[in-house]
Amino acid sequence: MCGIVGYIGKRDAVEVVLDSLKRLEYRGYDSAGIAVIADGKLKVIKTKGKIRDLENALKGFDVKANVAIGHTRWATHGKPTDVNAHPHVCGGIAVVHNGIIENYVELKNELVSKGYSFESQTDTEVIACLIRDCYKGSLFDAVQEASRRLVGSFAIAAICENEPDTIVGYKKESPLVLGVGDGEYILASDIPAILPYTNRIIPLEDGDCVFITSEGFDVFNNGEKAKRDILTVSWSPVLAEKTGYKHFMQKEIFEQPRAIADTIQGIYSFEENRFYLVSSGFEEKLKEINRIVAVACGTSYHACLVAKYWLEKYAEIPVEVDIASEFRYRDAVIDEKTLAVFVSQSGETADTLAALKLSKEKGALTLAVCNVMGSSIAREAHEVIYTHAGPEIGVASTKAFTTQMAVLYSLSLYMGSIRGNLEEKDVASRFAEFIKIPRLTEEALELDEELLSLAMKYLDKKDFLYLGRYVSYPIALEGALKLKEISYIHAEGYPAGEMKHGPIALIDKEMPVVVVAPVDRVYEKVKGNIEEVKARDGIVIAFTTSGNKELEGKCDHVFYLPEVGEELSPFVYVIPLQLFAYHVAERKGLDVDQPRNLAKAVTVE
Ligand code: F6R
Repeated sequence: MCGIVGYIGKRDAVEVVLDSLKRLEYRGYDSAGIAVIADGKLKVIKTKGKIRDLENALKGFDVKANVAIGHTRWATHGKPTDVNAHPHVCGGIAVVHNGIIENYVELKNELVSKGYSFESQTDTEVIACLIRDCYKGSLFDAVQEASRRLVGSFAIAAICENEPDTIVGYKKESPLVLGVGDGEYILASDIPAILPYTNRIIPLEDGDCVFITSEGFDVFNNGEKAKRDILTVSWSPVLAEKTGYKHFMQKEIFEQPRAIADTIQGIYSFEENRFYLVSSGFEEKLKEINRIVAVACGTSYHACLVAKYWLEKYAEIPVEVDIASEFRYRDAVIDEKTLAVFVSQSGETADTLAALKLSKEKGALTLAVCNVMGSSIAREAHEVIYTHAGPEIGVASTKAFTTQMAVLYSLSLYMGSIRGNLEEKDVASRFAEFIKIPRLTEEALELDEELLSLAMKYLDKKDFLYLGRYVSYPIALEGALKLKEISYIHAEGYPAGEMKHGPIALIDKEMPVVVVAPVDRVYEKVKGNIEEVKARDGIVIAFTTSGNKELEGKCDHVFYLPEVGEELSPFVYVIPLQLFAYHVAERKGLDVDQPRNLAKAVTVE
């Protein structure tokens, strides 16, 4: 939901900000802009469209500066137009903003009555004018004063013509990270924008106002100087490059064997027969709980749905799974014996964060599963377990999903072990199976070519149905989500057993039905569902266990995946569904990494 950047230092600030905006483009891509102070004058270049349109707009515009701010937009207030693009300027002050100002109409009326005029339909222009109105010679003081009057969520970066060596940033409920380089500082919405310049970062906290010059920086919170630790992130900048792949999504699909291996490495020691997953204090509290709720959005929600099967099996505790935007507005029964798990790649999803805060207020023990170090959800929870997927840039989530499942499967075994349901030898034998997953996902990736041919055959279809049962049901949901979000083809995921309660009416000779059918405890039932589809002339595309030849005559296409323990099949079976969605979208010539209307981190409600 918009990416913001600010740079101050020795390098060409325009170049750095442009490069960083490209790394943030996954957050929004309907317009972009940049503001610099060059030769004592504020200059702004902005345009509707993507960063490459901004680059074109910058051609022939020779600006050299050491201070700049930039923005890539996902429109909330006002259509994507040149005028609505950020930065917004008022009286020599330029502002970029990520978030939503809820009281902007009221503030705008007040500012208009004071003589300010507005060009755009955005809420952000109000911030620029409010800061201008508060300005009495110090940008830092003006930003702090203005921020006290703003209601909503906002991360901002501001520069001022009168103070050419200064950037001021403010964070409230939208992410903002400060990169601390050698004589240079970079402020950004997310870590990948900073990585090429430094791996030393400070994730700012709500209410933090940061004052940056080329000499150094200070963070204040509530008017008091605040001490913030510098974290060193291990992500290499190469992880945020396409490295020869056509799209980030494709690269991230192929990175999954490595990402899963990195995530499970070090979680469990065979020699000591023990887990290294959470702190000992948290372990003691975990022993007290009698219920689990798992809350997330989108793909992360699907990871929670898979985890329900594992947690109930091993922890033997009732597990409820909820979509964050629903959970936060119902009267969920939560108490101090509830473990509330929040799963989020970005760690910034507004609904998930709000659900976490609510659960804490109700006394729950909270655990976050996040990919981004120091993100809001990671910080807010009592304990965090990180997935080691590396930066996920493609808007459609892939490696984040499989690594979230890897953490949740480990958590399930761990809970089983601390609750005395699993003996040491059981844990060891299950982990011995689990560590085969990176290799098995690698084998699943070998279907790539065949799935490209399948994609070419079906890319003109208008609707798809995805079916699965037991742990394959959430995988059917995830396969359908992948297809619809990047190829704009309507796709529905359904528990196969529910088909005859409604969706079966949709089936005719035009309808491809993707069936996730590993040979497991429900295979015979799924085979029955395949027969039902075929009896109505549907087109069946089945994914099953290598060596199981009996579907050949029954289905239009059968793809074989390596044998895998039944509860671990989600790791392997989601891979071909990701590849199929990728190839359909790519062959349709769509923007795979930046699908229309979407943004990577949904930091507004
Ligand atoms: C789908 C997708 C989204 C996210 C959802 C939650 O491919 O990426 O559905 O999974 O927006 O995001 P996080 O995990 O960052 O909370």
